[in-house]
Amino acid sequence: MTALPVIIDCDPGQDDAINLLMAFARPDRFDILGVTAVAGNVPLNLTQRNIRLLCALAGRPDIPVYAGCDRPLIREPITAHQVHGPEGIDGMTVGAPSVPLQPQHAVDFIIATLEAADDDGVTLVPTGPLTNIAAALSKVPAIASKISQIVLMGGAMREAGNFTPSAEFNILVDPHAAEVVFGCGRPIVAFGLDVTHRLLGLPDRLERIRALGNPVADAAYGMLSFFNRFDSAKYGSEGAPLHDPCTIAWLLRPELFQLKPCNISIETTSPLTVGHTAVDFWHVTTKPHNARWAFEVDSEGFFDLLTDCLSRYGGRGQDM
Ligand code: BDR
Ligand code: CA
Repeated sequence: MTALPVIIDCDPGQDDAINLLMAFARPDRFDILGVTAVAGNVPLNLTQRNIRLLCALAGRPDIPVYAGCDRPLIREPITAHQVHGPEGIDGMTVGAPSVPLQPQHAVDFIIATLEAADDDGVTLVPTGPLTNIAAALSKVPAIASKISQIVLMGGAMREAGNFTPSAEFNILVDPHAAEVVFGCGRPIVAFGLDVTHRLLGLPDRLERIRALGNPVADAAYGMLSFFNRFDSAKYGSEGAPLHDPCTIAWLLRPELFQLKPCNISIETTSPLTVGHTAVDFWHVTTKPHNARWAFEVDSEGFFDLLTDCLSRYGGRGQDM
């Protein structure tokens, strides 16, 4: 199997971080053309720094990192410091990154990379607000044909919103960008709270990661433990939902998820429900399908996969 060319666009965030560590562990499966930072969970100066720290931690200084948009297209920025901590990746050691930041703006990197690619050549994996992707598509619409698919984390249908009663965080932060992306005409796979809320960082699952005993698994364990504290209290569960790693998990093992083609439309104006993803799961409108919506997940299989990815960084009884 040849490695899939991907651009990962994210706002780390512990769950973005786990997603990156999964992707970085599998150079046999992913040709990571670049990782692009967007403002989201924490401001851009922290999300780009956090990506560089994760590249260094994972021994992947070869991956270029770009900083993108520092605010949503139209709305005022919203952060999620209360969930992720002041650094965004609290739970792992945070210092000055040895991996450099590329001088090019992330939006220009995305455009240039897609322009140079074949049709259907690149998979985009956004796990934060969709600002960078929408800005690139708006600036040069012709790049759309180069995108093979967009595999994103965002939205909610059966599960209510997590930042307002109606809206999931990534879509709420930049609904106008989400509207551009869901209207771009390319294949989209969307992982919303309906599946991510099934992937709880339960104590035994985290213990399996801790037991791997390598530095990357230790950092993952630290971040997941920190991440558990806010959502466990919020949801009354034993662990926090793991959102963003659905994207890389699906690319690695699609059989873990069930998807359904749907129309997904984004609310951009209502003060009450802005950021809502109207998922036409039962096809009650005549709107064309523009995405596949994930509605079921094998949670044990997912955590087996996550543990396997982290084990590839070495561990007790294995070569580092
Ligand atoms: C999404 O919002 C962020 O807090 C997480 O990183 C994830 O991308 C979940 O709603
Ligand atoms: Ca995220």
